[in-house]
Amino acid sequence: MQAKILLAGATGYLGRYLVQALLKQDKGFVALGRSLKKLGAMGLGEAQIKLAQVTDPMSLAGCCDGIDIVISCVGITRQKDGLNYMDVDYQANINLLEEAERSGVKKFIYISAFNAPNYQSVRMLYAKEQFAQRLLSSQMLEPCVIRPNGFFSDIEAFYAMAKAGRAYLFGWGDVKVNPIHGEDLARFCLEAAELSSHQGSQPKDSYLNDSPHKAKQTWRPRQDKRELAIGGPDIFSIKELAQLAFKAMDKPEKLMYLPDWVRKLALAVAKQLPERVGGPAEFFLTVSGQDMVAPAYGEHHLLEHFKSLS
Ligand SMILES: NC(=O)c1ccc[n+]([C@@H]2O[C@H](COP(=O)([O-])OP(=O)(O)OC[C@H]3O[C@@H](n4cnc5c(N)ncnc54)[C@H](OP(=O)(O)O)[C@@H]3O)[C@@H](O)[C@H]2O)c1
Repeated sequence: MQAKILLAGATGYLGRYLVQALLKQDKGFVALGRSLKKLGAMGLGEAQIKLAQVTDPMSLAGCCDGIDIVISCVGITRQKDGLNYMDVDYQANINLLEEAERSGVKKFIYISAFNAPNYQSVRMLYAKEQFAQRLLSSQMLEPCVIRPNGFFSDIEAFYAMAKAGRAYLFGWGDVKVNPIHGEDLARFCLEAAELSSHQGSQPKDSYLNDSPHKAKQTWRPRQDKRELAIGGPDIFSIKELAQLAFKAMDKPEKLMYLPDWVRKLALAVAKQLPERVGGPAEFFLTVSGQDMVAPAYGEHHLLEHFKSLS
């Protein structure tokens, strides 16, 4: 029988691609969110919508009844609810996990972030990792933590700079990253949903890439499938990302190099600011300081994505 999925954080960037993929694959699923307006506009039927507030355990009561797999994309990125990362990325996901454990859910997939365990002084990543560790220690269901690299949605910041006329880079812009498109990541999450910890798995050949900046294929079939790091198919230096944005618009490139001490100083300031103001900057300035190259996956390329924004 087909597994039934509960998707939390369905109204976000990744959540929307997951909903599209689930609809396309005709999977049995329920999308959980707090805004009926947003959920209703996503092409979902009434039976596919569960209205609940993940920060309120009472409102989650019964949401996992009859569910086999929970996928949670819940987390603060740009929301301005006056809540902090421990309230949402940690506690709201705990609320959902406890409800899943109570209801006998078989598997819980959580979307964390690449390298989160290595950056525990970053408040967002600390909250995410606290939850990930609680999930990984669950004895009542099969845990799976997916740690994706930056999403194309975040890399659009380079497009915005290029559109404004100038892109600012730290150091020589030589730090490397392989961002991933939401559609590729959604497909990866659904493949993970199908994996059982007893199965081996290889990426399908069509997902291997042949672009000039091709990432070395580092997916390991014997990788512990409880924790899956993942990035997009192409590796770029930050300078190349900025150049690509100018190229997509057919504009002459204007790059401005800022010494790396500017990043370090801004990071020290961001760490002193309240989370609402300093949290996203603290995350961005930390991960901009060193290479972030995850195992490669996917078919979407950034140049086409930037062009689609024009
Ligand atoms: N963006 C990236 O580059 C990136 C990279 C690696 C990992 N991640 C992680 O991947 C996950 C998904 O990212 P995304 O870009 O899809 O995020 P997103 O677009 O901001 O979506 C986040 C989801 O969480 C929900 N949410 C946030 N605060 C909430 C609250 N107080 N109460 C109830 N629901 C709340 C949002 O609901 P509403 O729509 O109702 O606000 C939304 O459905 C996040 O945990 C993020 O940290 C992101």
